[in-house]
Amino acid sequence: MSREYVLQETDFLVSQTDAQGNILFANEDFCKVAGYSLSELIGKPHSIVRHPDMPKAAFKDLWNTLKQGKTWTGYVKNRTKDGGYYWVFAMVYPMGNGSRSESGYISCRRKPSAEEIQSSMELYKTLDRGYYA
Ligand SMILES: Cc1cc2nc3c(=O)[nH]c(=O)nc-3n(C[C@H](O)[C@H](O)[C@H](O)COP(=O)(O)O)c2cc1C
Repeated sequence: MSREYVLQETDFLVSQTDAQGNILFANEDFCKVAGYSLSELIGKPHSIVRHPDMPKAAFKDLWNTLKQGKTWTGYVKNRTKDGGYYWVFAMVYPMGNGSRSESGYISCRRKPSAEEIQSSMELYKTLDRGYYA
């Protein structure tokens, strides 16, 4: 059983990527929760924290939304460096001039409630085969 890291109410995890989703910056709360130092994250694809339980459809929706210059919000289960996991509620924003996102993206994440986590788990089970398989 992998271990859950439950965010604190005051945790606010921020990361910034280039247009391809490579990490340019992560704040202290992000590094603390994910278990990486900033230097381990910079330049890596953001999928470094991807958890295998997350359905592909969620990230497809994320990228489709961002490519349209829109903000994506959603619940994400991520993996920590030591193989544990943590749930976040994320808002991901295109940077730049609105309709174009040449300059990349920023994601800000807070702690989701237990109910929000439960309903996300149920939704994600229905999206891709493979979830909890
Ligand atoms: C600003 C930003 C933040 C992201 N944050 C996460 C994240 O916290 N966890 C995650 O698994 N993917 C995140 N992604 C999506 C990844 O880029 C990637 O699409 C996803 O991990 C799926 O990996 P794959 O495309 O290699 O299958 C983020 C993307 C952007 C642009």
